[in-house]
Amino acid sequence: MNSRNPSVPLSENKHLLRWVEKMAQLTKPEAIHWVDGSQREYDSLCAQLVESGTFTKLNQDLWPGCYYSRSDSSDVARVEDRTFICSLSKDNAGPTNNWENPYEMRKKLKDLFSGCMRGRTMYVLAYSMGPVGSPMSQIGVQLTDSPYVVVNMRIMARIGLPVIAEIDKDVKRVVPCMHSVGAPLAPGQKDVAWPCNKEKYIVHFPETREIWSYGSGYGGNALLGKKCFALRIASNIARDEGWMAEHMLILGVESPQGEKTYVAAAFPSACGKTNFAMLIPPAGFEGWKVWTVGDDIAWIKPNAQGRLHAINPEAGFFGVAPGTSMKTNPNAMAALSRNSIFTNVALTPEGGVWWEGMTDNPPAECTDWQGNRWTPEIAKETGAKAAHPNARFTAPASQCPTIDPNWEHPDGVPISAIIFGGRRATTMPLVFQAFNWSTGVYVGATMGSEMTAAAAGTIGKVRRDPMAMLPFCGYHMGDYFRHWIKMQRSLSETPRVFHVNWFRKDQDGNFIWPGYSENMRVLKWIVDRARGRALGLETPIGWAPHYEDMEWNGLDFPKERFETLQAFDRSAWRKEVIEHAELFLELHDHLPSEMVYERELLICRL
Ligand code: GTP
Ligand code: SPV
Ligand code: MN
Repeated sequence: MNSRNPSVPLSENKHLLRWVEKMAQLTKPEAIHWVDGSQREYDSLCAQLVESGTFTKLNQDLWPGCYYSRSDSSDVARVEDRTFICSLSKDNAGPTNNWENPYEMRKKLKDLFSGCMRGRTMYVLAYSMGPVGSPMSQIGVQLTDSPYVVVNMRIMARIGLPVIAEIDKDVKRVVPCMHSVGAPLAPGQKDVAWPCNKEKYIVHFPETREIWSYGSGYGGNALLGKKCFALRIASNIARDEGWMAEHMLILGVESPQGEKTYVAAAFPSACGKTNFAMLIPPAGFEGWKVWTVGDDIAWIKPNAQGRLHAINPEAGFFGVAPGTSMKTNPNAMAALSRNSIFTNVALTPEGGVWWEGMTDNPPAECTDWQGNRWTPEIAKETGAKAAHPNARFTAPASQCPTIDPNWEHPDGVPISAIIFGGRRATTMPLVFQAFNWSTGVYVGATMGSEMTAAAAGTIGKVRRDPMAMLPFCGYHMGDYFRHWIKMQRSLSETPRVFHVNWFRKDQDGNFIWPGYSENMRVLKWIVDRARGRALGLETPIGWAPHYEDMEWNGLDFPKERFETLQAFDRSAWRKEVIEHAELFLELHDHLPSEMVYERELLICRL
């Protein structure tokens, strides 16, 4: 079989060719590889990663097409304090983003990237966020010296020849994305399994729509189509063009009568989007189906009739492994059962993978995410985790048994409801509905959540995370709220807005709500409210279901327990509303007046 020479450019686009050449001159790679996106190329890159020690091929009888990887122990999550929005004016980035003067930052990046790919191959990775050719899709080209990134991106996005064909049409603007692990190799120097640099820079230039990422090979730091493009850069494009780029899952609920309703939901990182997107209806909901469109990002746009439609710009799931099991999320387990990549989970002696919560009984022995021997006894003694809490699987979305038949529809799916939710041990009830759009925007804008392992930081502390976008909004958060408010004016039909909290705890620190499949009961009330056929109780914070308004068939959940779960605690809310002011004060000079008035009204109702 004759194989193609990967250094021969696959594109004829002069801008692209010139940029690749210029970046090669800067970074000095040993070779250039144009990624065609084929299975053959993928297999050969994976073989090369096995050779270099980055990948372990899993037991193919148990895990067909799957690979295992351990990162450097310092490169395990997004680094928010090393993430920069370098808009021309500091004011455009706003107080919730790190800003650096773009001229200074360019100088710094030029130094960092100078010769940074020495001894490595630079991959030219063309990718489409959204189905190739969809009017809602956007195109990027990532130059990277990490083959690990290339194979992960092949699962997470549409890549290679079909995208290059789009670029060669020269009608869509291409977002240039530079990425280096920042670990050049001297001649003859042996590579490490997970090259990276202690110094990390995740940089966005919103005006020129550029991304420069240095020093990390992990997740959102390195797979630049995901958070960097599809949220931080796309939120800027969306504001300019009148649409929304959101940290949201998209799912479709189908009733036994065949009525289908799509909703989008924003929960912060590691707060249950993947689980909710793949929900399996519980006992008592025979004939109901939940379809998955996306589990992390939604691009939402009004169509010609003024209805919001959403696409999932991604093609795969980069999901939290710990806690994923046949009990909690069998659909994710099916999606990740083949052709997937596992990072920072544990490796079993049979050549399989394991993580906390995957099975009731842990394996007698395995190798933990740092390569050390792990046993349940050692764990008991030292508290060592087999998998890192932010260990992830990279799995093709097409392998999800509940993937929606319309998930790649070029015009997206119609959105009837928007759901906000956080991880809150107190104060927030299981579910309520905002009174209207602007109250809904207020609910999203004041969202709080306990911090998780998805980002470096203090786990468990409540932080304000507006619309789950605090780490992902690529411009001033106050202007982002204004954009939300304004979006409604272009709509003929306004989606209903809800808030959920699966994580309220009782006095003993146990979750009150069983969650997972049982969240279907909440989803049904939401769909019924959105369609105007369920009752609710007016409370100071919004409409809430009575016990009788919820479907309890198949679950023995006593009325008092539901009332504890839904309890509206006036004194806790008085504290809550004071905390809302902290963020608003920070944003004050860009805060839309609707947010101020909504807060005043809420205070009056309290
Ligand atoms: P990112 O990929 O970081 O954006 O995370 P995500 O929002 O997709 O979160 P995911 O669904 O992976 O869930 C993260 C954690 O929350 C896992 O440990 C889950 O087991 C847990 N979780 C998800 N849904 C529920 C629920 O309904 N109840 C409870 N108690 N935990 C849940
Ligand atoms: C998140 O942190 O919200 C993720 C994982 O989805 S990452 O891709 O690393 O951003
Ligand atoms: Mn996410």
